[in-house]
Amino acid sequence: MTPAEQLKEEHQGILLMLRILEKVAFKLEAKEKVDVKHLERIVDFFRVFADKCHHGKEEDLLFPAMEKAGVPKERGPIGVMLAEHQQGRGYVRGMAEAIDRQKKRDPKALADYAENARNYIALLSQHIKKEDNVLFPMGEKVLSKETQQGLVEGFEKIEVERIGEGTHEEFHTLLRHLEKIYLK
Ligand SMILES: [Fe+2]
Ligand SMILES: [Fe+2]
Repeated sequence: MTPAEQLKEEHQGILLMLRILEKVAFKLEAKEKVDVKHLERIVDFFRVFADKCHHGKEEDLLFPAMEKAGVPKERGPIGVMLAEHQQGRGYVRGMAEAIDRQKKRDPKALADYAENARNYIALLSQHIKKEDNVLFPMGEKVLSKETQQGLVEGFEKIEVERIGEGTHEEFHTLLRHLEKIYLK
């Protein structure tokens, strides 16, 4: 697998969780009961699988390699991607804070979770489209086969060192579990 193929496959997992989150946001807005554990696990997924691991691979390895190959960071596509990662972290933080407030019985908490979720879904869906259709093809064009092979090895290292072996698979189990509950 090339680095772009691997990142695209992770996008599929992230997009599936975004669809689950959309359903959850809809339920919260309709004042239907949603298990708080699910709200927490979703935040966990976006913090660890999407941000720490996936965005880590992009920010620490792919983007610097593309910069080195001449793709501009400031005022270029990489700068936009980095800014969107940062913006997304704010929305995930908003969801996490809403859960804490929900536990203290703040009546507005779940509506805030839903609002941050909606913003995050909108942001990340278009972000992924841009990476899949513009940024990754650009990377495949400018990076040599050797550099790409090096990235794949680096990705493996990030996975083991930052989230630990087996964590990736656990999140796929979580995806399948929540998919059955919310998307069937
Ligand atoms: Fe990204
Ligand atoms: Fe990505």
